[in-house]
Amino acid sequence: MLSLFTLSGLLCAQGLDTELDRKATELLQKMTIAEKIGQLSQVNGEYGQITDGMRIRVREGKIGSVLNEVDTKTINELQRIAVEESRLGIPLIFARDVIHGFKTIFPIPLGQAATWNPGLMEKAARVAAVEAASVGLRWTFAPMIDISRDPRWGRIAESLGEDPYLTSELGVAMARGFQEDNLANKGAIAACAKHFVGYGAAEGGRDYNSTNIPENELYNTYFPPFKACVDAGVATFMPSFNDVNGAPASGNAWLFRKVLRQDWGFGGFVVSDWESIRQLEVHGVAAGQEGAAQQAIMAGIDMEMASGAYAAYLQKLVESGAVPESVINEAVRNILRIKFQLGLFENPYTNPSDFPALLSPEHLAIAEEAAMQSCVLLKNEKAALPLPEGRFKKLAVIGPLADDPYEQLGTWIFDGDPQHTVTPLAALDNALQGQAETHFVKALETTRSYDQAAFPEALQAAREADAVILFLGEESILSGEAHCRAELGLPGAQLELLKAVAQTGRPVISIIMAGRPLALGEALEYSDALIVAWHPGTMGGPAIARLLLGLDAPSGKLPVTFPATSGQIPIYYNHKPTGKPATEESYVHIDDIPVRAPQTSIGNTSYYLDAGYKPLFPFGFGLSYTRFEYSNLQAATPMINSGDTLVVSVELANTGDFEAEEVAQLYIRDLVSSIVRPVRELKAFQRVRLKPGESRKLTFNLPVEQLAYYYPGTGWKVEPGQFRLWIGGDSNAELNTTFEVR
Ligand code: NOJ
Repeated sequence: MLSLFTLSGLLCAQGLDTELDRKATELLQKMTIAEKIGQLSQVNGEYGQITDGMRIRVREGKIGSVLNEVDTKTINELQRIAVEESRLGIPLIFARDVIHGFKTIFPIPLGQAATWNPGLMEKAARVAAVEAASVGLRWTFAPMIDISRDPRWGRIAESLGEDPYLTSELGVAMARGFQEDNLANKGAIAACAKHFVGYGAAEGGRDYNSTNIPENELYNTYFPPFKACVDAGVATFMPSFNDVNGAPASGNAWLFRKVLRQDWGFGGFVVSDWESIRQLEVHGVAAGQEGAAQQAIMAGIDMEMASGAYAAYLQKLVESGAVPESVINEAVRNILRIKFQLGLFENPYTNPSDFPALLSPEHLAIAEEAAMQSCVLLKNEKAALPLPEGRFKKLAVIGPLADDPYEQLGTWIFDGDPQHTVTPLAALDNALQGQAETHFVKALETTRSYDQAAFPEALQAAREADAVILFLGEESILSGEAHCRAELGLPGAQLELLKAVAQTGRPVISIIMAGRPLALGEALEYSDALIVAWHPGTMGGPAIARLLLGLDAPSGKLPVTFPATSGQIPIYYNHKPTGKPATEESYVHIDDIPVRAPQTSIGNTSYYLDAGYKPLFPFGFGLSYTRFEYSNLQAATPMINSGDTLVVSVELANTGDFEAEEVAQLYIRDLVSSIVRPVRELKAFQRVRLKPGESRKLTFNLPVEQLAYYYPGTGWKVEPGQFRLWIGGDSNAELNTTFEVR
């Protein structure tokens, strides 16, 4: 793909003729080449310090942005030097990874994705933005919208799951929450769509690894969330660390100049990832740092994060003619435009008292709601949940994650403070005062411990209790950047603990906190009920307590498939059919193959002898305390033409006895197409609250363009013909109808 386009043709395609652009150009004309390169350099903060070197560089206009400085006094002082002491007074932009909250920590992004609630995620991002802005930060490196089909990859925690449509909807909601409708608003911060592209497809789920993604998959699966964020006005982009089909993203002009700027019309700026420009040399595509700087700037990476290749070599490269000054000018203009949009020139300083308090009750309430809606109930037998009101006196609360204020916050919480966390144990104690008592035994020091010395005490507590709530999973450090796992079972002796507790015969409710889907087969077997709570953040405790006590019903749905074993990976719902799809009839388990069975290919289908073809739980799955029934699915427009909107309705009824929310999901399949299309694709969803006995007609409107797919070498098209459409509570929904596109 890289060879198919010429860089020179694209360079002049950039530059938007707007008022902002004129302001930026005017300023640009006054800048020396050194000052221009300064705008392209982002350096790490010095943790509340300002060294003489930093002071001098800011004063000389040699720094455009600072990341990881969160001390307001220091931020304001650095800004003062930039604005008042540098020749042109161009303000700095302060950045930070505000990934799922600043001080008020929300569930990890994968957990938030389980809410399937864009409105709530927008609110969460807004809280994060306001809190971050209150110390002087005006830019976050979020949302991460890398499609992730591999739970071994530690950064799946930071993703929004495996589906392009869900990720697009939720990523856009986050970007909107951070940026509001005007970047200059008090409390708005610039968002960053990352990592462009394919970071989640790292080979073997090992972080930073190569990706090989054919054009078809790039356009149909990996690009859509990024395109959606561009359309929504996201201010910045970040490349992925990996190489995409051999070309490292940070030096990939096809991605940044052709796709992002020319095809999609992106008008913001691109920041490299941490030292990813320097790493072009390590990838082996640049002979030295000078070559790395040249490749990256020519590829359209406007700002360099952390490493100093731009600062050291760009001037020389311009002087030698290897990099046209127009390329530098373009990058500077991209950055200045966003600085103008943020209102940094008019309001460079931050006064925290202009903002609502950190961790305000309103912020905590949104965090609690997000944590509650993110919880996914995977099993509930023998009426284990909710705990029967007034009919229990003693709860055994057991496990390493029941009362650990730090671990429940999850990965990427640079500014989160465990001091403010409310743990499940604390929340249960608070809620049960005077009605019942808890007996807490940690049993294992960490999720990775093998020391079973405290098991007898835990078992004693279990035997004496009416029910046992076990808090198991992964500590936060077991997911996140560079924290990948090859095996997805519960670490340490947690499974042994669960098995021993189950033997007491008491009802066992397992709450799993983790940064990724875990292989929970055995854990399910030994639990009467099981909830996946991800890493639920500051207010995880009260949210979980509310669900346990039946003050609300679980409503989270899996944003990613849960494999039965890591050997099944990659396993995702929107796979292609193959010519020999597996079926119940064709599947033969390894133990059922007769000895010396003759080898044949007749009747063979696609599965593992030892792990079948089904995941543990499909994408979109999640139980409730009530029952939801779908009926009367109708396509009001069974024949549609281009430009039409498909209108479909379904009746959703709450036939149980608990008020609850359901996420109704709509999937389609293009039944005959020119290239192989997925067996199902999510195209719409609605979150609905229904009282017991209540039913409601849900209507979905699907513009026909939403049925388009990218045909390699040709572009997007909607193919005429039959489609099947399902609506239901998960990606295995059975209720279906067909419609035709003419
Ligand atoms: C590396 C990560 O890949 C990126 O997502 C993050 O924003 C930067 N470091 C800055 O911390």
